[in-house]
Amino acid sequence: MEMPVEIVDRAPASLIVAETAADIAAREALLDRAMGPKRKKKSSEKLRRGRRPSEGLAFVARDASGAVTGTVRLWDVVLGEGGPTALLLGPLAVDPALKSAGIGSALMRHAVAEAVRLGHAAILLVGDAPYYGRFGFSATKTGSLAMPGPYERHRLLALELVGGALSGAQGTLKAAGRKLKAPAALTVAA
Ligand SMILES: CC(C)(COP(=O)(O)OP(=O)(O)OC[C@H]1O[C@@H](n2cnc3c(N)ncnc32)[C@H](O)[C@@H]1OP(=O)(O)O)[C@@H](O)C(=O)NCCC(=O)NCCS
Repeated sequence: MEMPVEIVDRAPASLIVAETAADIAAREALLDRAMGPKRKKKSSEKLRRGRRPSEGLAFVARDASGAVTGTVRLWDVVLGEGGPTALLLGPLAVDPALKSAGIGSALMRHAVAEAVRLGHAAILLVGDAPYYGRFGFSATKTGSLAMPGPYERHRLLALELVGGALSGAQGTLKAAGRKLKAPAALTVAA
């Protein structure tokens, strides 16, 4: 179990911890508030739907009362047919009332550190380079990669955790994560 990390910026009472099943409703409500209802139409969502996050890589930020103030999750993907595995990060979101307090940065630093600790080779995401650049993400290694749906090419960013992990990587990202359990009715019918 990973240690919580204290946020040192402008939200000193907040902690980054592993997400639990009890956080799901609050996380979904936060995502609706931060990103709006169109969030489920993103191409990244195609790689997440019906899957569980990569083992040990779903985090929330909590305030002193325990309320969820931020969320980030990472997902297992394959880079092109038969290609190497990597992580897809997202969504990253912070309670709009607590923007620019350092919570997003703390979530990112913790997510990257845990991905390294768990031995992953690279992280990809679709997002704004001016924000994610500060964590080392750039589009320089993603020119031969593609998302499985509409997205803005210059926003497909990556961070190598192992040097050269993305060298020669090409093709469309594919979901490779553990599947969510089928609903009970389907299980019975099968
Ligand atoms: C983007 C987001 C996660 C950042 O979280 P946060 O806790 O506010 O971020 P931090 O406090 O760590 O960093 C704030 C800094 O990032 C900057 N920033 C925030 N979003 C940015 C963006 N899209 N592009 C460039 N800079 C950005 C802020 O201006 C601020 O700059 P400063 O440090 O110079 O003042 C949060 O604003 C959010 O949830 N936004 C809505 C959802 C979203 O867009 N998620 C990203 C999907 S790609």
